[in-house]
Amino acid sequence: MSVKVTVVGAGTMGNGIAHVFAQAGHEVILMDRSADALERAIGTIGKNLDRMVAKERISMADKDSALARLTTSTDLGAAVAQAELVVEAATENTELKLKIFADLDAAAPDGCILATNTSSISITQIAAATQRPDKVIGMHFMNPVPVMKLVEVIRGYATSDVICERVMALSAQLGKVPVEVNDYPGFVANRILMPMINEAILTLHEGVAGVTEIDTVMKLGMAHPMGPLQLADFIGLDVCLSILRVLHQGLGMDKYAPCPLLVNMVTAGKLGVKSGEGFYVHTRGSKDLVVAPTFIK
Ligand code: CAA
Repeated sequence: MSVKVTVVGAGTMGNGIAHVFAQAGHEVILMDRSADALERAIGTIGKNLDRMVAKERISMADKDSALARLTTSTDLGAAVAQAELVVEAATENTELKLKIFADLDAAAPDGCILATNTSSISITQIAAATQRPDKVIGMHFMNPVPVMKLVEVIRGYATSDVICERVMALSAQLGKVPVEVNDYPGFVANRILMPMINEAILTLHEGVAGVTEIDTVMKLGMAHPMGPLQLADFIGLDVCLSILRVLHQGLGMDKYAPCPLLVNMVTAGKLGVKSGEGFYVHTRGSKDLVVAPTFIK
């Protein structure tokens, strides 16, 4: 059954989420305050659909109908006025998300489900900014959204069984595999992923091995598609640091303390792919893995 979905935020995650809902037959409004961001997002979705057409995963008609189900808006109130589901994928900032959820609660119909794609902010805290905590839930998609199969579905303290079942079923209908988890710092995905990334950075920091060696061990030894340092660059070192701080503060254990090298790199503006340099140097359009000069002995 087709659902009226509004995706808030047209960045990397937002455009991927809008893409998968539109491709699965839902009416999607992609909302962002920036018209330029919306234009870029529609361009990205078009390119990603073209890639699927070229690989004969979908037909040209599938691509055209997906794009026809997708509209954009710069006005939050208008974008959610008819929504049955909102998926918020704005910047990972607690104050901003609390404000957005208070606004969504005021503008969206009473029965509308309010989901957040947060990677680490408490669903219970976000739900408390609304008058409908039973209808607030986490829908944590993974990057790149059109490719990755998982949706981590996070139940806040007050999320109702009915809403959780509905979101699990909708995620499966997108062709994803939903996994239900409870609302504790980092949920499951980042509670396990971020300590691994942090340990890889500590291993580099202590001089146990170099960037290429660490990533090669994990790629070839554990069949990970990317080594942990390459993955950290892909996610964004600022995002990794902020999630580790949530784990460290929320769980109160020193094993989650961010590696000083990670803190220094973020302070120096070396954020990975988005800034052009992290553990590797990233050149637009190139897939070559070039270790950053700082880490070449
Ligand atoms: N949209 C659509 N399709 C895409 C895509 C996109 N944005 N990006 C890649 N693809 C497709 C490609 O077309 C290709 O398809 P085929 O298999 O049919 O050829 C496939 O994905 C693989 O792409 P590439 O050949 O270009 O590149 P690759 O083999 O190096 O794979 C990758 C790229 C899929 C990103 C792979 O390296 C990978 O899985 N990396 C790990 C990703 C990961 O761990 N993501 C989770 C990060 S954590 C997170 O998101 C949440 C958080 O809270 C931090």
